[in-house]
Amino acid sequence: MIKYILGIESSCDDTSVAVVSSKMEVLSQRTVSQTSVHKLFGGVIPEIAARNHIAWIIPAIESALVDSGKNKDDISAIAVTNFPGLIGSLLVGVCAAKGLSIGWNKPLIAVNHLDAHISSAFLLKDRKPGLPYLALVVSGGHTSLIEVNENGKIVLGETMDDAAGEAYDKVSKMAGLGYPGGPVIDKLASTGDKSRYKLPYLLKNNNKYADEIVFSFSGIKSAVKRVLDEGNADMPSLMASFQDRIVELIERKMRLAMSMKDYKAIVVSGGVSANSAVRAMSQKLSGEKKIELFIPELKYCQDNGAMVAAAAFDDLEKGKFTPVDFDVSPTVRTKR
Ligand code: KG4
Ligand code: ZN
Repeated sequence: MIKYILGIESSCDDTSVAVVSSKMEVLSQRTVSQTSVHKLFGGVIPEIAARNHIAWIIPAIESALVDSGKNKDDISAIAVTNFPGLIGSLLVGVCAAKGLSIGWNKPLIAVNHLDAHISSAFLLKDRKPGLPYLALVVSGGHTSLIEVNENGKIVLGETMDDAAGEAYDKVSKMAGLGYPGGPVIDKLASTGDKSRYKLPYLLKNNNKYADEIVFSFSGIKSAVKRVLDEGNADMPSLMASFQDRIVELIERKMRLAMSMKDYKAIVVSGGVSANSAVRAMSQKLSGEKKIELFIPELKYCQDNGAMVAAAAFDDLEKGKFTPVDFDVSPTVRTKR
């Protein structure tokens, strides 16, 4: 029998609610973006984000349910992101989910935001990757390589400082290109000459992390700043070079992980998986290794409710529900 989950995402600045079926169809999704507000400040202001979630969460739930053509009796569970993220933002989604669960008498499934991003790659697909697979989550808050195997998940490595999306956003701010930086830089880079500026390769050659699965994106900002400080930068070419170094590091670390184990598939997700160079590199890698690539459609790369619902189906199948007194957390925890 086909089941339906209502998924709620509010970990950062997007209020998003969706109804997803156990066949991974997205019946409806309502997302209220706050980009136009946070743009004025060049980044997300947590207090403002939380207040806007409060204003939009109930209308988003109501319209997602109406759009889905289902009613509350068709919903098997309420899924909600409870970590990692901004505390105030997470609390709004979690309180709404708890209220719905009590009011509608439905079980709750608390979801790790990173698991949700990984699951976004399975939306609208009729199958999941074989195990073990290598998952890259690359967003404004995370850059992590994760192995998913029969026993669960192992974080192979993550960023030591900025996340890749954070580097895009900070460089964009420095260069006066606006917020969020990723889409603007991606577009600008496509018209530039990446060999014009010799920005340093990240964690390469004699770097002590050259042979480890870790990422670091803070150094590249200073390199870009030095070029900007000289004045008259050829912006498309500078951004093309910046993007090249970011994607080169991600590719090198994915190759390193793949040299240590035979994976059955690559799963690439998170806001930065919308990036044209990241998508091209992932296609190239999967083709070369002759393994399948799972990558979300562009509309499911950014934070969204559908991925939260998608991530909850395994627990629904096992009848593994989260007791109503669960908490939120700003960081990644291994237990919930
Ligand atoms: O997954 P997401 O919506 O939120 C987090 O969980 O962080 O990701 C947002 C991030 C932002 O940093 C944004 O600049 C980046 O994804 N992003 C991109 C692109 N589109 C969005 N970065 C590079 N290229 C893009 N095309
Ligand atoms: Zn995210």
